[in-house]
Amino acid sequence: MKGIVLAGGTGTRLRPLTNLINKHLLPVGKYPMIHYSIQKLKNLGITDIILVTGKQSAKLYMKYLGSGEEHGVRMTYCMQEKPGGIAQALLLAEEHVQIGEKMLVLLGDNLFHDSLKEEVSYFKQSGDGALVMLKKVADPRRYGVPVFQKEDAKRIAYIEEKPVKPQSSYSVTGIYMYDDKVFDVIREIKPSGRGELEITDVNNVYARSGKLTYGELEGWWIDAGTHESLYEATRMIWEEEDTWRS
Ligand code: DAU
Repeated sequence: MKGIVLAGGTGTRLRPLTNLINKHLLPVGKYPMIHYSIQKLKNLGITDIILVTGKQSAKLYMKYLGSGEEHGVRMTYCMQEKPGGIAQALLLAEEHVQIGEKMLVLLGDNLFHDSLKEEVSYFKQSGDGALVMLKKVADPRRYGVPVFQKEDAKRIAYIEEKPVKPQSSYSVTGIYMYDDKVFDVIREIKPSGRGELEITDVNNVYARSGKLTYGELEGWWIDAGTHESLYEATRMIWEEEDTWRS
């Protein structure tokens, strides 16, 4: 299984910090944010990792992670010229994924407690399709929100991106698992109103064909994309400091 970490984008909600440095290099406890996605993958035994970054701070990523040797992984880098959306960033990794290979995709600003061991082993053994991790949240309007099937609440009918009136109290976190068909799916979808290839549209293609399953995170989960959530992430990570060494 390949690990893919998406760390492009503009980080506008974290200005002025992100005027200076890319969001995923901002400090969270003792390490830059990117450290935590790499550690999660490594702890799952996923050591072949593709990192998609933008131009901002590209050299600093290489300075920190290098070939990956020091961190016990093997790094491959892809450059997203312009922030064209999460799905567009993912498409850039295609040439490094083998035919038939599955992947665990992490958004670089998602920090969380769960190890994902059970979900990854389930997904490795299951057939084609995709799996998203959900988390119950106080304000789902900030996220992708699943709408469950009426006849079978164990299945997602579709996902709404940042809905004004959420139809469930879950967020679709930035933790996704895909089969190798995901790249064909991305080529199928059209840019959204904000001109981005949306990962929610990709997931909805899988949902429509009945091939989207989900898991639920038990521990804390934070999208560290705002000043408040970055502060909260630092607090949570600090409490678990011992578990995050390379
Ligand atoms: O955190 C979970 C949420 O992430 C999901 O619930 C939403 O469905 C999903 O769309 C996403 O929403 P955000 O508004 O938080 O996405 P954002 O634009 O902040 O991008 C999240 C990460 O994706 C960011 O850390 C870097 C990566 N990214 C994003 C864009 C737009 C890229 O690598 N390239 C990009 O062009």
